[in-house]
Amino acid sequence: MRSTAFAAAMLPLATAAVNVVLSNDDGWAEMNIRSLYDGLTDAGFNVILSAPADNESGTGSADAEPTTVGRRGCEFMSCPPGSPPFGYNASNPRFNYVNSFPVTSMRYGIQTLAPHFFGSAPDIALAGFNVGTNLGLTTQISGTVGAATEAAREGIPAIAFSGTTGAQVGWTTPLQTYQQVYADLSTTVTSVLVHSGLPYLPNNIWLNVNYPDVSDSICSSPSDFRFVLSRINNAVPYVTPKDVYTCHNDGRLPTETEVVDTEGCYASISVGVATTKLDAGAADQQVVLDKLESILSCLPA
Ligand SMILES: *[C@@H]1O[C@H](CO)[C@@H](O)[C@H](O)[C@H]1NC(C)=O
Ligand SMILES: *[C@@H]1O[C@H](CO)[C@@H](O)[C@H](O)[C@H]1NC(C)=O
Repeated sequence: MRSTAFAAAMLPLATAAVNVVLSNDDGWAEMNIRSLYDGLTDAGFNVILSAPADNESGTGSADAEPTTVGRRGCEFMSCPPGSPPFGYNASNPRFNYVNSFPVTSMRYGIQTLAPHFFGSAPDIALAGFNVGTNLGLTTQISGTVGAATEAAREGIPAIAFSGTTGAQVGWTTPLQTYQQVYADLSTTVTSVLVHSGLPYLPNNIWLNVNYPDVSDSICSSPSDFRFVLSRINNAVPYVTPKDVYTCHNDGRLPTETEVVDTEGCYASISVGVATTKLDAGAADQQVVLDKLESILSCLPA
């Protein structure tokens, strides 16, 4: 009897699926977002993909009413010319395109698709992983960051993922090592954040995660990687308030660029304010440090 009650009490934690809206700026048919979809789905997340019909890299927080697809069709011929402004894969309606910007696609996922598929808002919103890093000032123009910060502005905890290796390739190309590794690492970060409990992130806060190069000889396995808490932008001496204290750092986190450039396989996790896309303060960094402690490391001295 006791063990039955215990099992029943554990059941909701083990089975309640976490609802995810996934977007990007490289487009709905790019292989990276499809490999992250697969990684998350295999890990038990309930995922809806809602991303631009075309390559919208570098479009920041641009936003516009979706239009009919032009004469070139969706990227990689993933939909024919003249397709409607919104569409989905008839074999898998969880794959949705929006013929507009990353922000517009993320909002459609949150406000229209999530109520339809989940009966509620999503629990978390993810963007990426992007083809190429989004480090420092690049975050201001990144569409992937635009999508993540849009979600956070709408009250949904959000993470942007980006990786150094690779070019934009279509969803039917064979899965590469770097895609497998980045998808696996991104799923790990998401799982650890979710297991840290609600609220997943403070209000108006998003995470910016960047991965260094992956090849067959370096950083070829997820287990080679360490995550390091970082800043998005350089601190201004005497002006920028102290960061959270960790790794004997004297109140100043390394920048995400320093982390990703450090020899070894160091991935950066920065804590950002959605409305400005700039660094969050020490109090919000502390919340994230506590939540992700089990996967965070220090840079080598
Ligand atoms: C996608 O757009 C970006 C920014 O305009 C551009 O640099 C890149 O080459 C484009 N990718 C492809 C495959 O056309
Ligand atoms: C749509 O789904 C089918 C079945 O999974 C797949 O064969 C096809 O490549 C998909 N197309 C796109 C654009 O996702």
